[in-house]
Amino acid sequence: MKLLVTGGAGYVGSVASRLLLDAGHEVVVLDDLSTGFRAAVQPDATFVQADVAAAATVLTPQAGFDAVLHFAGLIAAGESMAKPELYWRQNMIGSLALLDAVRAAGVPRFVFSSTAAVYGNPAELPIPETAAKAPTNTYGATKLAFDYALTSESFAHGLAAVSLRYFNVCGAYIRPDGTAIGERHDPETHLIPIALQVAAGKRDKLQLFGDDYPTPDGTCIRDYIHVEDLARAHLLALDATAPGEHKIYNLGSGTGFSNRQVVEVAREVTGTELPVEIAPRRQGDPASLVASSELARAELGWTPQKTTLPDIIGDAWEFYRTHTA
Ligand SMILES: NC(=O)c1ccc[n+]([C@@H]2O[C@H](COP(=O)([O-])OP(=O)(O)OC[C@H]3O[C@@H](n4cnc5c(N)ncnc54)[C@H](O)[C@@H]3O)[C@@H](O)[C@H]2O)c1
Repeated sequence: MKLLVTGGAGYVGSVASRLLLDAGHEVVVLDDLSTGFRAAVQPDATFVQADVAAAATVLTPQAGFDAVLHFAGLIAAGESMAKPELYWRQNMIGSLALLDAVRAAGVPRFVFSSTAAVYGNPAELPIPETAAKAPTNTYGATKLAFDYALTSESFAHGLAAVSLRYFNVCGAYIRPDGTAIGERHDPETHLIPIALQVAAGKRDKLQLFGDDYPTPDGTCIRDYIHVEDLARAHLLALDATAPGEHKIYNLGSGTGFSNRQVVEVAREVTGTELPVEIAPRRQGDPASLVASSELARAELGWTPQKTTLPDIIGDAWEFYRTHTA
């Protein structure tokens, strides 16, 4: 297939591009490099530096694209509360412009990077796709709004659409030749890469926000999904799309790990002491977030393979060691 990958200079988009190219697809990456890296664009992909709002310049009817995989977006929940207008413009208005271009060009399939943040503080665990949607931050609200836009687009115009709601993405893709493709966010807000920065001496200490949650060790529990497993789900989703249907799948491992467990394994993997400071709880942090991915397993035939913390943190460390000066 000929595929447009928005956000292909970012973490998930670059790993997905690699797997799509290795599977024999043609990939055009569209990315404005606002948070991504030119070097992360896979060398055998075509690169267009542009905002998603300008996607119509690439997605022409003549270009013959078979699908769009839409990874591009702003992803920092905290920032989204301080600059909501930016998140609505980039994640919602930009994505609507992309959808206009998809419709005008007659592209039949669309796969969207949605998020567990659409659920907010869940009433049930593990969280199924049918759980109440109640985002606690603007980031989650923008993603949920675009999920709704896709539902009506499919209904009205026959688009074959899939939203994949990722839980905590982590790890790195280690290619058969040993080279790694991984995570670089600046500023970094995710626990595992921050732990690795502390291990590497780039930060003094790791802050854990709250140790008095109603969990076995008092720290928050999250569902970590390895980026390679996540990227593979996109290949399966492409095959599973059906005209006029918008399918929605949670993607997580189904297992929760506490912040303390992450720190312990990061200490073991990196062989460092990794100083930790307990800080006050952050507003809006749920105690536990664990996915039910039963639907993805049943309908996409998806089975995550790299579900242990040593696997996840080992791969992330391999990328960090080899890509950070
Ligand atoms: N990383 C996670 O844990 C996680 C969890 C849930 C959902 N997601 C979603 O997955 C997607 C990818 O996340 P990521 O971690 O790879 O983020 P990332 O920041 O590494 O990648 C995003 C990419 O999109 C590009 N981009 C941003 N706005 C753009 C615009 N308006 N036009 C063109 N390019 C633009 C950036 O330059 C960057 O290369 C995002 O949509 C995010 O919301 C990520």
